[in-house]
Amino acid sequence: MKKKVLVTRAVFDETLAYLAEHVDVTSNQADVKYSLEELATRLQGMDAAVITSSDRVDEALLARCPNVKAFCSASVGYNHIDVAACTRHGVVATNTPGVLTNSVADFAVCLTLATCRRLTEGEAFLRRGEWRGTHLKELLGVDLHHATVGVCGFGRIGQVIAQRLQGFEPRILYYSRNRVDAGVERELKATYVGKDDLLRRSDIVILILPYTQETHHFIGPRELGLMKRTAVLINMARGGVVDDKALVEALKAKKIFAAGLDVYENEPQVDPGLLGLTNVVLSPHIASASEPTRQAMAMTAAKNCVAALTTGRPPNIVNPEALRG
Ligand code: 8YV
Repeated sequence: MKKKVLVTRAVFDETLAYLAEHVDVTSNQADVKYSLEELATRLQGMDAAVITSSDRVDEALLARCPNVKAFCSASVGYNHIDVAACTRHGVVATNTPGVLTNSVADFAVCLTLATCRRLTEGEAFLRRGEWRGTHLKELLGVDLHHATVGVCGFGRIGQVIAQRLQGFEPRILYYSRNRVDAGVERELKATYVGKDDLLRRSDIVILILPYTQETHHFIGPRELGLMKRTAVLINMARGGVVDDKALVEALKAKKIFAAGLDVYENEPQVDPGLLGLTNVVLSPHIASASEPTRQAMAMTAAKNCVAALTTGRPPNIVNPEALRG
């Protein structure tokens, strides 16, 4: 008998075809997010699930679905999964590292430039019919070229962002849990500094660090107060890394110049304070959303899922301890 797999969101034909070769697959091709209750109900009798970062896997869900042996997320971040609880239940959790690095790094540059150069504000101004020709002092922004850019989080994606930025001849500062090899620092012309030092010195701060208890509100009122009044803040990490309320206040009071956000504290809700501001560029968590990258993410999650149910050794397991029980 084939194992049963639930896919909680619409996926690509190739993903479904691959899964169907190996398992009995049910997928949410209508793409309407399941409520917590509906997810628990649909998981009854399933052996595993392919999920996304908008599905919460916690103790309560695990207790209600004892059959499910693997949750395979089509995302690199896995803060939506209570990994310790999965391990306690002997449930495997997997993610999709690597396949989205380049697209997310591309988008970091896109959001940085759009924010520094006030792209969306300028477009809205033009669409409202308010453009009256060139004024030397209109819609002035911040330069990325030769800027001091502080990258917070210097793992795989942070390093590729630094690599992408080289053409802008920046001064790169970075802050990270672990200092990287001297060779990498040299190649990326990146200087390791403390958090406060980075915030004080940077013209542009890019956040790309994982969301954990330690990084909750990594940027709050104190940190925003340390930044330059001309600084730009880019959040590519996770909602919760930034205290959105404090950011609204800082942007209103012009404590910093602008922010570019791809992620929010209560996604898909966005703080109404942010919606009312012009010095912020808002995108709906699309950093990895190129066609090939999303296909690769879905396929990687599917392969992890099939491996979890067959060999028991999925390549991208985040809690290998779960296999030792
Ligand atoms: C995903 C992301 O697109 O991979 C992640 O951690 O944040 C995004 O790339 C999104 O979370 C879909 O699951």
